[in-house]
Amino acid sequence: MADASAAVLNRAQSSFDAGIGRLVDLLRIPSVSTDPEYRDACRAAAQWCIEHLSESGISGELHETGTSDAPGHPVVYAHHPGPASYHGPHVLFYGHYDVQPADPLELWDSPPFEPTIIREGEPRIVARGAVDDKGQVMMFLEALRAWHDETGDIPIRLTILLEGEEECGSVNLDQYLKDHVDTLRACDVCLVSDTGMWNRETPAVTYALRGLSYCEAILHGPDQDLHSGMWGGSVPNPLNELTKVFGQLFGPDGRCALPGFYDDVREVGEQERTQWKSLGIDETKQLASIGLPPEANVGEAGYSMIERQWARPTCDINGLYGGYMGKGAKTVIPSFAGAKISFRLVADQDPAKVTRSLFDWLKARTPPGCRWELMDHGSGLPCTVSTDSPHMVLAKESLHEATGKEPVLIGCGGSIPVVGSFKTLLGLDTLLLGFALDDDRVHSPNEKFELGCYEMGLRTHIVLIGKMAAAG
Ligand code: BES
Ligand code: MN
Ligand code: MN
Repeated sequence: MADASAAVLNRAQSSFDAGIGRLVDLLRIPSVSTDPEYRDACRAAAQWCIEHLSESGISGELHETGTSDAPGHPVVYAHHPGPASYHGPHVLFYGHYDVQPADPLELWDSPPFEPTIIREGEPRIVARGAVDDKGQVMMFLEALRAWHDETGDIPIRLTILLEGEEECGSVNLDQYLKDHVDTLRACDVCLVSDTGMWNRETPAVTYALRGLSYCEAILHGPDQDLHSGMWGGSVPNPLNELTKVFGQLFGPDGRCALPGFYDDVREVGEQERTQWKSLGIDETKQLASIGLPPEANVGEAGYSMIERQWARPTCDINGLYGGYMGKGAKTVIPSFAGAKISFRLVADQDPAKVTRSLFDWLKARTPPGCRWELMDHGSGLPCTVSTDSPHMVLAKESLHEATGKEPVLIGCGGSIPVVGSFKTLLGLDTLLLGFALDDDRVHSPNEKFELGCYEMGLRTHIVLIGKMAAAG
């Protein structure tokens, strides 16, 4: 390890608590991107990041997104040229400062935007955004700060993009990337910390993310809610009809019944199958961790749980509404019924094609007298990163040196749509170095980030920055 890195690691160690204090400050800002009520908070979180960067000698600015009719949340953009003699890769660091809504609030043990540090058991910080993604962004920003404070400079060429709309579908980011393509194409590789470790003892590089297609369908029937005694059995009930149609989407053997859905799916390779098996996952234990018995191990027939999560597409209803949702009983035929539905996709499926095919399929099944209102809530490409690039080698070495553990290669069932866009719009590969644990309650009440994982991420980024500075 380069001498400078060792000194920077020591510096980070001695200022560890101050760094956690800064993370607490960022977590206090309720930057919920999907809810217009938190607009100002989103901007405040972005501004906070600019100030943090400036204290490390990196100048940044807020870039507006969207249109005047539909303004988005700002992107934090920063650039640091690095030393004139720098020959390593120009890194594009991406993260997101927005968070998911905190509700249901009553299930939190402490308020979501009053970060709480718990010392019993595994020390951890509990707050909305602790691990997704503010805590993981801060591992990198604090690594930069430690380099700056110890050496007076940042030793690499670096561009930083922090998005404020990741949790609501990154609707303005592709346009942003297109508008800045000339600047961003100068980068050599992207670096993202928004995924997980294999387990508390085993760091990981994620090399496959699933894609996503998210839609909503509303079935309209009568132009008013009706008394179900007067009208029931005489006219279509949109809730009955919608659930009958959606019921047909789930075929036998846990497969999606959309025609052609599997046509473009790349089969799990024998080598991957063997490597994933060697990770030694205990499926029964996984199920137990979320309160399910062994017989709940259901899904597409012929694939293990890990294969189903990392390499097979799925279709899920994420919300269903209509009719009377209040307490007690009310006899009503609702005038409409709606469903939110998403598909997780794998290489080489095309999200736009899946969305089209769902809409065609629904139209062909329009219940008599009813009408569909169909909405596309956005999508993201699935993506797979090459596992033997020189950047990947540096990343794996850094993880090993910083944690003392051999990292493993893993897939991820979740989606980070921008990673596909980096590839298709900018031609860039992404290194996904994540430090979340499976039980961090991402998107749920009592989200946490273990300080031990944060520390591994901080150290890994310090070492990686040193290696890039020494490269070439
Ligand atoms: N950080 C997550 C992705 C993730 C989830 C990685 C679980 C590892 C484990 C990201 O912020 C996220 O929530 N993505 C959304 C994408 C959607 C909002 C477009 C997802 O996967 O649902
Ligand atoms: Mn995230
Ligand atoms: Mn998320």
